[in-house]
Amino acid sequence: MTVFHNSVLLKESVNALHVSPDGIYVDVTFGGGGHSKLILDKIQNGKVVAFDQDKETLKNTINNDKRFIMINKNFRFLKEELALLGVFEIDGLIADLGVSAYHFTNNNRGFSLKYDSVLDMRMDTSSKKDGLFVVNKYDQKNLARIFKQYADFNNPNFIVDAIVSARSRKIIKTTFDLKSTLKHYVSYKNQNQFFARIFQAIRIEVNDEICALKELLKQALDILNPKGRLVVISYHSTEDKLVKSFMKFGNFLNTPNQDFFGNITKPFKQITKKPIVPSLDEVNSNNKARSAKMRVCEKI
Ligand SMILES: C[S@@+](CC[C@H](N)C(=O)[O-])C[C@H]1O[C@@H](n2cnc3c(N)ncnc32)[C@H](O)[C@@H]1O
Repeated sequence: MTVFHNSVLLKESVNALHVSPDGIYVDVTFGGGGHSKLILDKIQNGKVVAFDQDKETLKNTINNDKRFIMINKNFRFLKEELALLGVFEIDGLIADLGVSAYHFTNNNRGFSLKYDSVLDMRMDTSSKKDGLFVVNKYDQKNLARIFKQYADFNNPNFIVDAIVSARSRKIIKTTFDLKSTLKHYVSYKNQNQFFARIFQAIRIEVNDEICALKELLKQALDILNPKGRLVVISYHSTEDKLVKSFMKFGNFLNTPNQDFFGNITKPFKQITKKPIVPSLDEVNSNNKARSAKMRVCEKI
């Protein structure tokens, strides 16, 4: 049987949450449930509320435990959904961003380079924008933006031109259509890495991952109790930069906020000055862990 997901930095992240037996914890990226289950092991009368926008994760939900609640929604609705449960303050929040191993092993959702399937790439299959739309309808400027920002191509024009020229002849419908549009621009040896970057950029755009993360972090700040901890594992430099700035300054500008009198105000104490990365053993046994960076802070 294929495993849904092997949790990354599992013990390190849950230890960093400083779980107390009666606390309320939110796991905003439930996936296969690894982090939620370990938190449940550490609480007594507390509560774990989990979010995941992909309805496939509902099959991993934890039944017969009254301390656990699963919400099949985007974590950008954090405060709204918690309010519906009567929860207005929490003691810790963990986010393990991106997609699960399941998304890459599934052969019909468009996330994987390996399988030929329609360019979908939506984690929430009820949302309107999919990979087909991004690849076939985005203008050149927007395509260039995503390949620059989310795939780190300094000059993505050759990719954009190839896509725009191919789609003027025929819709780019599947993952393999996209690969054959671009395969002449990269050596055979580097194809996997090249396409992984391209697919990642489209996926981040389709799921609006950067905006959702910003919304999440701002809401987490509002509802964390003093001494409540925020633990974020990210897999992409754009995400990690946002998390780093937010934990340090409480904003995304990478510069301190000042109050009326010019005093610097900081909402968090940084627990990790440098990101925690998985051990070599973990990376060797779980390839998805290789780009993980974990940051932790505590509400003041
Ligand atoms: C890396 S996996 C989490 C794995 C999980 N920690 C575990 O131990 O199995 C990320 C999960 O978060 C979900 N996800 C990503 N962005 C989300 C968002 N904005 N709102 C809700 N769920 C999201 C994905 O569907 C995926 O299942």
